[in-house]
Amino acid sequence: MPDNPQRIVNPQPQIEDRFDQALRPQRLDDLIGQARVKENLAILIAAAQQRGEPLDHVLFYGPPGLGKTTLAHILANEMQVNIKITSGPAIERPGDLAAILTNLRQGDILFIDEVHRLGRVIEEVLYPAMEDFALDIVIGKGPSARSIRLKLPHFSVIGATTRLALVTAPLRARFGAVFRLDYYDLDAMNTIVERAARVLGIGAEAGGVDEIAQRGRGTPRVALRLLRRVRDFAEVRASGVITREVARQALDLLDVDPLGLDEIDRRVLRTVIENYHGGPVGLSTIAASVSEEPDTIMDVIEPYLLQLGFLERTSQGRQATQKAYEHLGLVYPGDGQQRLL
Ligand SMILES: Nc1ncnc2c1ncn2[C@@H]1O[C@H](COP(=O)(O)OP(=O)(O)OP(=O)(O)O)[C@@H](O)[C@H]1O
Ligand SMILES: [Mg+2]
Repeated sequence: MPDNPQRIVNPQPQIEDRFDQALRPQRLDDLIGQARVKENLAILIAAAQQRGEPLDHVLFYGPPGLGKTTLAHILANEMQVNIKITSGPAIERPGDLAAILTNLRQGDILFIDEVHRLGRVIEEVLYPAMEDFALDIVIGKGPSARSIRLKLPHFSVIGATTRLALVTAPLRARFGAVFRLDYYDLDAMNTIVERAARVLGIGAEAGGVDEIAQRGRGTPRVALRLLRRVRDFAEVRASGVITREVARQALDLLDVDPLGLDEIDRRVLRTVIENYHGGPVGLSTIAASVSEEPDTIMDVIEPYLLQLGFLERTSQGRQATQKAYEHLGLVYPGDGQQRLL
């Protein structure tokens, strides 16, 4: 299916996979940005290695496309262990989890994506597995049922989530380290785009790289996707080299504005401003107005608008800020007036 240009900044992870594989940093040292997380992980790895122990359970959280999955793979590489990949919704029954756990080897990493979507019953099985490396299995039914405890190898869970608030407290408590991934700064974004262009053999001038980095929403996945689209444009409409002007034209054509906002981001802002007098308005109301899933708004669209300071969260809902009005070229009515309207 052709890419829908409107969705360019909110791509589906699966579509990106092949392209991303080649670009995914393999070692902690190769990872650009996230300096704090990197340093903490380096200590975690070194300490585990010195003691000859498996890695502690680690939880990564933050908006999509910032490198949670990448980091899980890096940890497996650095620890030289196998990584088994699953996700919260994929584990439907306790038996599914039991099958995964009993197939792990000493030191292995079990990566659980979307860990906030694990079912309660599954979590109950996971707790003793993470804490005591034990699996409690009930054999038989009714009065003759009995529980036996299987020993598991010492393994490490790496959890990833875009919604820390939805991870239950008992599960969260079982992770020895919890790291938040933040949006990348412009420097890091430039380095990431520049490196990707080099690896893929794409001719790009510094100005072109910078233009893509600026419109990449501080998100490597988004920037890499933009790079791909701009390369197409450069090959079809220009000499093949990504100059700043070529990047600008390509990104304008894709409706990605200088801050990286796309059509839907702007529609969300316009809805709040034009239909609800700047807010506050509830997230589900916004979602219905723009025909999007509330989850998409919450996970993908809103975090970046909050980061830019275009939206604010209040107890009554989302509110557009003066900056948002200005970005859209609209007149800010001012606080008092806004309430009166
Ligand atoms: N620090 C980085 N340096 C270079 N490339 C990166 C970096 N972080 C992420 N990437 C690239 O961005 C892509 C997206 O990262 P990744 O899949 O790890 O994000 P994620 O946080 O797991 O997203 P999601 O929440 O959607 O699962 C990767 O395939 C990788 O190529
Ligand atoms: Mg991921």
